[in-house]
Amino acid sequence: MLSKDLALLSLLLPLGVSSYVLPRDSTVKLDVTAGDQRPIYDAAPVGLSLEFFAFPGYVQDVASTSQCFANLDAASQSQTRVRIGGTTQDRALYDATLTSPAQFVIPTPGGAPLNLTYGPSFFDLAEGLKRPVVIGLNRRLNQLNNTIAAAKQAIKTVSGLFAFELGNEPDLYTATDPIANNHSWTPALDAKIQIDWQKAVSSALGKDDIVEAGVFLQPPKFSVQELAPQEQGNNTLHIVRTFADHAYPQSACGGSKTNLTTLMDHSRVKAFVDTFKPEVEAAAAVGKPVVLGETNSGGGISPTFGAAIWLADYALQAVNLGYSRLYFHQGTIGNSPYSWWGATKVFAPYYGALFATEALSGMSSISALDDGSTSLAAYGLYAEDKGVPKKVVLINTDYYSNTTTTERPSQTLSLSGLDNGLQSVNVKRLTAPYATSQQELGQVPTFGGVSYDNATCNAVGDEKYEQLAVHNGCANVEVYSSEAVIVYIS
Ligand SMILES: *[C@@H]1O[C@H](CO)[C@@H](O)[C@H](O)[C@H]1NC(C)=O
Ligand SMILES: *[C@@H]1O[C@H](CO)[C@@H](O)[C@H](O)[C@H]1NC(C)=O
Ligand SMILES: *[C@@H]1O[C@H](CO)[C@@H](O)[C@H](O)[C@H]1NC(C)=O
Ligand SMILES: *[C@@H]1O[C@H](CO)[C@@H](O)[C@H](O)[C@H]1NC(C)=O
Ligand SMILES: *[C@@H]1O[C@H](CO)[C@@H](O)[C@H](O)[C@H]1NC(C)=O
Ligand SMILES: *[C@@H]1O[C@H](CO)[C@@H](O)[C@H](O)[C@H]1NC(C)=O
Ligand SMILES: *[C@@H]1O[C@H](CO)[C@@H](O)[C@H](O)[C@H]1NC(C)=O
Repeated sequence: MLSKDLALLSLLLPLGVSSYVLPRDSTVKLDVTAGDQRPIYDAAPVGLSLEFFAFPGYVQDVASTSQCFANLDAASQSQTRVRIGGTTQDRALYDATLTSPAQFVIPTPGGAPLNLTYGPSFFDLAEGLKRPVVIGLNRRLNQLNNTIAAAKQAIKTVSGLFAFELGNEPDLYTATDPIANNHSWTPALDAKIQIDWQKAVSSALGKDDIVEAGVFLQPPKFSVQELAPQEQGNNTLHIVRTFADHAYPQSACGGSKTNLTTLMDHSRVKAFVDTFKPEVEAAAAVGKPVVLGETNSGGGISPTFGAAIWLADYALQAVNLGYSRLYFHQGTIGNSPYSWWGATKVFAPYYGALFATEALSGMSSISALDDGSTSLAAYGLYAEDKGVPKKVVLINTDYYSNTTTTERPSQTLSLSGLDNGLQSVNVKRLTAPYATSQQELGQVPTFGGVSYDNATCNAVGDEKYEQLAVHNGCANVEVYSSEAVIVYIS
């Protein structure tokens, strides 16, 4: 456990002083063997969600997309997963005669289409990804036959097809949506229709284990907790491959309420992720995996390096809670602050995704080494069921902004419990000048000394590790505010 030596310090406080700001040079002690190990279900839990209408653009118009994927694949030594979906999946209808992948009008610059059609070549592009894909199909418009026709074409075309979603965020449907047929929209009505559609789609395809169910935005009103028992009662769990929740810690659309300081703060990250514990438990109770099917930071703070620090902590925290994987949403190209890359630039959050992917790579279990009460996050990552971690992740989520005039503070973490014979550990550091740094503004992050080229997504710079001495099974690691490191223990 991670414990600041508060008990001792409180003895030294003068009378009448009720709180104490911990000196920045104080050492935090961390026993790396003290964690409670939980399974990691995927080789690459950090995936991408591509907004339905924007998907063809990401693969046809953005030259760096394949290399940005390749870097993530290399980091996990696996295939990064994709979900194609979002709000516009529920505005889209399949047209088997359409020769282009998708056809739509953008009503306002930077906006999303109000309706669209897509054709068979949409699925050719999905096949071209050569990786596991979840495809979000329409339910809101109440055209079951159209959704079945699309699903049949997808099954024929996409070899990596993992599951279909039947509708996106039904929490937000209203009585005036065609699917509601003028009835007031409730969790019970949604569950009834979800289950009916699952049965119809599964039977038309002749396939079990084919639906990513739920796809809820704001549990618990609409939730896995509420849906899963009804799936069980109706004997439809054999159709369900996974359950999915969506999550945006501040706001999906951003706005004035977003705040990078609070987004990053580890104790808030843990508190937010913990609100989903009943969802994970509800899926486990019926023996099904659960994923964060669409998630990201949200808002104007999203392109910053601080959001990369958030992403790394959030992904590890969600995996530790029991989510099998997370799909980080990528919206309208050129107008999506949380996207990892765009037409001409790579953005800072991409570095957080690479960091979390590399940390989880090859590992079979994870533990939280801290209790979530401070801004310092620590995770153990294990290749075996028991014992000493292979890697330790340390994240200092203190906000270091470009308006700070003082020297960058740091925190030393004293790791104990390492093998007594161990001489040294290697450290790979994720850093940037400030939490507010943005690559497109020239404040380029580095991960192990490497940055990613805006145009090609190729690695730039020589990879570098810091070697730290180990004495009697202990090593001291310094992590500056708004930085993260992977400590490799071998
Ligand atoms: C589709 O969206 C366009 C605007 O982008 C609108 O003019 C048109 O009426 C919409 N069509 C339907 C069927 O909603
Ligand atoms: C949907 O397809 C079924 C089976 O092909 C057909 O019987 C039914 O009429 C179709 N419904 C609509 C609304 O087109
Ligand atoms: C829903 O109600 C509106 C207004 O009461 C009516 O105009 C419309 O035809 C109804 N739609 C259906 C599908 O019943
Ligand atoms: C089956 O699903 C329906 C519709 O969601 C629900 O009302 C019912 O309770 C479920 N049956 C059981 C036995 O859970
Ligand atoms: C963000 O939140 C922090 C902590 O609550 C607060 O001190 C800061 O003023 C907020 N920043 C903005 C820009 O609102
Ligand atoms: C600090 O960073 C923010 C966000 O990148 C930027 O808008 C602002 O201009 C920067 N301010 C300074 C003083 O560099
Ligand atoms: C990306 O573009 C920005 C803005 O033009 C530039 O300052 C930065 O150096 C570029 N980053 C890399 C890694 O090439």
